[in-house]
Amino acid sequence: MAELKKNVEEARDFIKARVTSAPKIGIILGTGLGALAKEIEDKKELPYTEIPYFPMSTVMTHAGNFVFGKVGRREVMAMEGRFHYYEGYSMKDVTFPVRVMKALGAEVLIVSNAAGGMNPEFSVGDIVLISDHINLMGDNPLIGPNDDKLGPRFPDMSEPYSRRLIKVAEDVAIKEKIEIKKGVYVGVAGPNLETAAEYRFLKTIGADMVGMSTVPEAIVAVHAGMEVCGISCITDECNPDALKPADINEIIKIASNAEPIITQLIKGVITQL
Ligand code: HPA
Repeated sequence: MAELKKNVEEARDFIKARVTSAPKIGIILGTGLGALAKEIEDKKELPYTEIPYFPMSTVMTHAGNFVFGKVGRREVMAMEGRFHYYEGYSMKDVTFPVRVMKALGAEVLIVSNAAGGMNPEFSVGDIVLISDHINLMGDNPLIGPNDDKLGPRFPDMSEPYSRRLIKVAEDVAIKEKIEIKKGVYVGVAGPNLETAAEYRFLKTIGADMVGMSTVPEAIVAVHAGMEVCGISCITDECNPDALKPADINEIIKIASNAEPIITQLIKGVITQL
């Protein structure tokens, strides 16, 4: 376990030797939601392949980048492209970049994702603030010996998504006339989408939306003592009683269409921090 800390510090030192900024805000840009990276000014991009111990991009369709720069006056670091559990990475790999962000000084983690909406009040294209999550991924990034220097053995999960940040996001949404909703995200391993019976089950256990990411990163961020703000874009409506085939290209297109508004929301939140 001391190994993890050592690897994180090596990655941190590699980045520190190349980037002068020390952002307190880390951002993970989800499927189809990469537009914010284009808004980052005074950019410095580091390909994941160059950073020590970063999961190798053998299964990634696009080489990902760690992007450093400014949004307005605030310094940020953003992951352009994230690692998914279904790609075959371990939970520790998926969350390694979050550890590195923390080691570089990040105190806040903003994550976005595409999600299927089970809540009948959610429509395709809706933007939903994550109020809480359910981990149904069948794994956990904290399994194994705990390094107390990285976080506690039994981290509290009473507020995984910061109420302070939810309030900030809600205030930004009101001011900028962005319609947002709030809901519980359930994380599943994927990669297949759910059966009608599974959507019914997920809805019954209290989830409003479902996706294949975010939960591991949020768990590690909480373990590391960071404040998390999660934003989902509803890309498909998952009514178990009238389930239509999901089209992954359509899901990506819908997320891309929501990009400008999610970008506006995240920019607004960043300027308020
Ligand atoms: N299920 C799981 N993950 C998803 C979905 C879904 O319906 N939509 C977008 N990501």
